[in-house]
Amino acid sequence: MCSTFFFGTLVILAADTSGFDLNKFDLVNAAKKSPDKNIVIKNLLVPTGKTLDLTGLQSNTVIGFTGRVTFGYQEWEGTLIELKGKNITVLGKPGHLLDGEGQRWWDGLGGIGGKKEPKFIRVSLVDSTTKGIIYSDRGSWSSSHFTVDIFSRTVNMETTLKAFGGLLLVIASAYGAVVSNYNDLAAAKQGTLITLKDLQVPAGVTLDLTKLKPGTKVEFAGRTTFGYKEWAGPLVKVSGKNLNIVGLPGHVMDGEGKRWWDGQGGNGGVAKPRFMEVNIDDSSIAGLNIKNPPAWCFVANYCKNVHISNLNIDVKDGAGKAGGHNTDGIGVGHSKNVTILNSKVYNQDDCFVTGAGSDILIDNLSCTGGHGISIGSLGRGAVVERVTIKNSKIIKNMVGVRIKSTRGETGAIRDITFDNIELSGITKYGIIVEGNYLNSGSAGDATPFPIENIVFNNVRGSVVRKATNIYVNIHPTSGKNWRWTNIKVTGGQREVKCVGVPAGLNVNCGKK
Ligand SMILES: *[C@@H]1O[C@H](CO)[C@@H](O)[C@H](O)[C@H]1NC(C)=O
Ligand SMILES: *[C@@H]1O[C@H](CO)[C@@H](O)[C@H](O)[C@H]1NC(C)=O
Ligand SMILES: *[C@@H]1O[C@H](CO)[C@@H](O)[C@H](O)[C@H]1NC(C)=O
Repeated sequence: MCSTFFFGTLVILAADTSGFDLNKFDLVNAAKKSPDKNIVIKNLLVPTGKTLDLTGLQSNTVIGFTGRVTFGYQEWEGTLIELKGKNITVLGKPGHLLDGEGQRWWDGLGGIGGKKEPKFIRVSLVDSTTKGIIYSDRGSWSSSHFTVDIFSRTVNMETTLKAFGGLLLVIASAYGAVVSNYNDLAAAKQGTLITLKDLQVPAGVTLDLTKLKPGTKVEFAGRTTFGYKEWAGPLVKVSGKNLNIVGLPGHVMDGEGKRWWDGQGGNGGVAKPRFMEVNIDDSSIAGLNIKNPPAWCFVANYCKNVHISNLNIDVKDGAGKAGGHNTDGIGVGHSKNVTILNSKVYNQDDCFVTGAGSDILIDNLSCTGGHGISIGSLGRGAVVERVTIKNSKIIKNMVGVRIKSTRGETGAIRDITFDNIELSGITKYGIIVEGNYLNSGSAGDATPFPIENIVFNNVRGSVVRKATNIYVNIHPTSGKNWRWTNIKVTGGQREVKCVGVPAGLNVNCGKK
C-alpha cells in the first residue's frame, strides 16, 4: 500500500537514565545543545499553552522518557509535543507515561467543535528509531491527539495500538498520509497532513490539491513528476484557507519541460500546460523547488494574505536552443496582501509579474535569464497598487524593471516602489515605463492611464552596449508624483526619445 496512515500508541522498552536531566521546562533549550546528546526527560511538567519543543535536535541525540510527563490546560490549537530530527533514538523507561489528561478537553466533539484542543504529539523523524513510547489520554478518545509525519526510509517505529477499538478508522482518516500513488490522494485529503512523496502524476491530470481542509499542511518530498500531454493544465492546483504548503529539503517538482519546448511557448506549437496555480487565503508556501515547467510556471490568483518564501524556479535548461519560452516565473493576479521572500527564478520570460492586485511585497528576489520584473495592468479597469520590490537582483534579463500599461486599456497603476535593485547584463532596457504595451510589440501613441506615486530608489547597475539605460514612453497626462533617487543605470549606448516624463524628474532618460 502506497498511502500510509500512521496512528497509534507507542509502548516502551528500557531507557538509560544517565545524561542531561531535563526535569524543568526552562531547561529544554540547554538540553538540545547538551554535548553528550543524551537527554533524559523526567517527570516534566510542560506549562500551560507551551509545546515541549524537541525540534532542532542535534543528530544522533538519544531521548529517554522516565516518570510522568504532564501538560498545563489551555484551549488552543497547538501541539503538546513536537519531536523532529535526524538519526534520533527515542526510548522510554518502563512505567513512564506521557499523560495528556485529555478529559480536561473532552466534550464529545473532538476537532469538529466545542473546545479547542491541542494536538498531542507530532513526530517528524528521519533515519531514527523510536521504541514504544506510552502515551495516555486516560480512557476515552477525542480527535487530534497524535500525528506522525514520516518520510524516511529507515524510521523504525515499534507501535502498539491500544484502547481505540472501533475508532481506528476515524483516527486513520484524521491524520497524516504519505501519498506516493495518485489514486491515494483523494482519501489523504480527508486528513490535514499530506506528504506527497515521489509522486508521479498521470498525464493530463491536475495534481488536485483544491478544496483542502482548513489547516492542511502539504509536504512535497522526493521527486514529483507529471505524465506528458499537450493540454492547458495546470499540472498542480491548490485551493483552500489556512494552508501550509512546504517543500521538504531535497525535493523537486520536475515538469520535464523539454518534452514540450519548441521555442514557441504560448504563441504556437504544441499546447503546453501551466505548471502551478494557487488560489489560497491566509496561507503560506515555503521552500518549493520547481524545475523545468512546460511554460508559465507559478501563479497566485485571487489570493489573500499569502506568505511565500524560498520559492526556487529553475528553468535554466530551457535557455537558448533548448526552446523554453513564456516560462514566466512568479505571477500574482487579483490578489491582496501577498509577500514573496528570498526567492529565485531562472527562466525565459517575466521573472515576476503582476497585472492586478494590491499590497504586494517582494523582498530578496533573484532573477536570471528572463524578461525582468514587470508591473502592469491587465487592463479592463484592473488596478495594481501598493507594490514594493526591494533588495533584488536582475541578471542577464531582457529588461530590468518595467512598468507597463496596455495600449487602449483602462485601469491604474499607483504606489509602486522599487528600492535597492541591482541590474547586470540587461539586454534591452534597464528601466522602462511604457503606456503603449502590446504583446506583439509596443507600438503607437501611449494611452492616457494613471501611473502615479512611483518611487525608484537606488536602482543601479549595467546594461549591455546595444541596450537603453532608461526609457519612458507614456501619455503626457499619465505620470504623477514620481520620486526617483539614486538611479544609476549605465552601459547602454542605444538612445531613444522619452515621452511623458513628469516635469522635475531628474533622470537621464533615453540617453547614453
Ligand atoms: C546515529 O546515532 C547513533 C547514536 O545514537 C550513532 O551511534 C550512529 O553512528 C549514528 N548514525 C549516523 C548515520 O549518524
Ligand atoms: C497579510 O498576510 C499575512 C500573512 O502572510 C498576515 O499575517 C497579515 O496579518 C496580513 N495583513 C493584513 C493587513 O491582513
Ligand atoms: C536571499 O534569498 C536567498 C535564497 O534565494 C538566501 O540564500 C539569502 O540568505 C537571502 N538573503 C537574505 C539577506 O535574507
